[in-house]
Amino acid sequence: MIHIVILISGSGSNMAAIVRAAQQEQWEARYHARIALVLSNRPDAKGLDFAREHGIPTDVIDHRAFPSREAFDAVLAQRIAPFDADGHRALVVLAGFMRILSAWFVDRFAQRLLNIHPSLLPAFPGLHTHQRAIEAGCKFAGATVHLVTAELDHGPILEQAVVPILSGDTAETLAARVLSQEHLIYPRAIVRLLQSLGNL
Ligand code: GRF
Repeated sequence: MIHIVILISGSGSNMAAIVRAAQQEQWEARYHARIALVLSNRPDAKGLDFAREHGIPTDVIDHRAFPSREAFDAVLAQRIAPFDADGHRALVVLAGFMRILSAWFVDRFAQRLLNIHPSLLPAFPGLHTHQRAIEAGCKFAGATVHLVTAELDHGPILEQAVVPILSGDTAETLAARVLSQEHLIYPRAIVRLLQSLGNL
């Protein structure tokens, strides 16, 4: 079984889109993959409620309780470990998870650690992507699903979606347009990865 572990920090709308796709498309029967855990580094993340309502186990590791990134990441790896044992493999999906992960953590889950970023990478890695795209005069924006590597917002691209930037757009209106596309490409990227894992 592939245990999909989704890490969130906030509203979790990408996580919800993945959960819905997994149910509608019967990922468990088709790809032998189950959403095993939704874990947040913020106790008040709204997405936790959605996960609980859908019967998905949840976990919280409040990063503020840790003295260092290393210490937080060590506990994160510990909590994921049971899902990556006994012949099961964990697929770790970052969905609005607002933390940078240690290089050793990225290494441990190499090739099965995914992120979504709200820009057309390699343009605009980092924060405030929508405002930066508008200020640069871009005519198009978008979102990217990629495998995570040690370098922030880099790594092989799995899926992208493009949206226009319209005159009068604000960072908020553009973010909403991009987010609706994120909800389509993230489940699609995961399915493609699950299919390729199945072929190994
Ligand atoms: C998304 O735009 C994602 O690309 C970015 O943070 C936002 C998270 O939204 N990394 P949500 O928590 O999935 O609703």
